[in-house]
Formats: sequence, C-alpha cells, structure tokens
Amino acid sequence: MNIKENIIWHKSTVTKVDRHRLNNHRSCVLWFTGLSGSGKSTLANAIDKKLYDLSVRSYVLDGDNIRQGLNKGLGFNNDDRKENIRRIGEVSKLFVDGGMIVSTAFISPFQEDRETVRTMFNNDEFIEIYVKCPLNICETRDPKGLYKKARNGEIQHFTGIGSPYEEPDSPELVIETDKHSLKDSVNLIINYLIDCGLLC
Ligand code: PPS
Repeated sequence: MNIKENIIWHKSTVTKVDRHRLNNHRSCVLWFTGLSGSGKSTLANAIDKKLYDLSVRSYVLDGDNIRQGLNKGLGFNNDDRKENIRRIGEVSKLFVDGGMIVSTAFISPFQEDRETVRTMFNNDEFIEIYVKCPLNICETRDPKGLYKKARNGEIQHFTGIGSPYEEPDSPELVIETDKHSLKDSVNLIINYLIDCGLLC
C-alpha cells in the first residue's frame, strides 16, 4: 500500500490572508545566509526586535538553536546540511502561512538548497539576504573560537575552511557587515519591507 495516496491535504479554515488582515501586515521569510561569524544571528535578532517594537508578529529560527532541538542529530556533511535547510524551509513555510515574518539565520552554504527553499514560497515571500563578510574578518572575529578549532583540525568540514560557501547569485539584499553599521543594516531591511508592501 502506498501511504502517500491516503494522505490528503486538509485546507485551513482561517487563511493566510485572514491572518494578514488580523495582523495588519503580510508575512514572509527573511533568509539570512553567510559564513559563520558574518553576523547572521545578530542581524536576525536586531530585525526581530525592531519588528516587535513595530507590533509586527515575527520570530527567529537560528542554526545553533535549532540544531539543539528539531535538527538534533544532523551534522555538517553535505547531506545533513541539505536536510537541515529543507526542514527549515518547511518550518518557515508554516510561519509564513501563520501570518508571521520569520527570520532564519543559517549558513545555508549551497545555492541549490537555498533555491529549493525559494521555490516553496510565492515570489514576494522569500527574501534572501546575503550577510557578506570576508572570511579573514569572520576568522578574526571568531566569536565562538570555532575557526581556531577548525584550523587546528579539531573541527572537520568547517564552512570556509574544509567545506565551501557558495555566494548567492541574486539575493534580494546584500548586507556587508564589515562596512555597514547594525543600525543602518536594520533600516535598510525595514525600508525594503515597506517598499515591497509587506509592512503598512
Ligand atoms: S548549515 O551549513 O546551514 O547547515 O549550518 P547551520 O545550521 O547554520 O549551523 C551553523 C552553526 O553551527 C556551528 N558549527 C559549524 N558551522 C559550520 N561548519 C561546521 N563544521 C560547524 N560545526 C559547528 C557554528 O556555530 C555555526 O553557527 P554560526 O552562527 O553560523 O557561526
């Protein structure tokens, strides 16, 4: 028996559009991608706070945190990273369907995986934000001491050292964290959301 044949989609009574009306804003995913130490979590949390202050319903999904719960057990080989990103895409879709603005802070190093997630959303619902910072600066920042461990051979497949990071081809936004202040970066993203009509 094919189990899939017996699983039939149940449409929600309250729709995404109903929730947008209730919230007074639309929903989307802000997909932050970049090297470890580039500033993804800092930016995602700063945007989340700004949105909260503006009475916008938002939430942050962060790689380090999700890997301690939902994605516990996934490692850092290519297949596990792919599965990590696929699951986050699915969870983000639930948040967007629930009328929220969800910020995701995952390295998400592979273009193909990010593009797969993009296809799960309507055009204006997926906003890819490349958190750009040269590897040598991320390595100097080394907030968790992980680059040092990777250089010493204590961590295998570390992004930028033993594992590649593929830069986004055409992200909606690029934030250069070695050049722009946090405040300017937050304003840039908020203005983008306003220009796209996602915020009233
Ligand atoms: S991925 O590539 O998107 O699946 O990674 P992600 O889920 O964002 O997890 C990245 C965080 O895990 C820590 N860490 C590593 N990162 C990269 N490579 C290796 N091998 C690795 N091992 C542990 C690290 O703290 C990453 O967090 P950030 O915030 O990016 O520094």
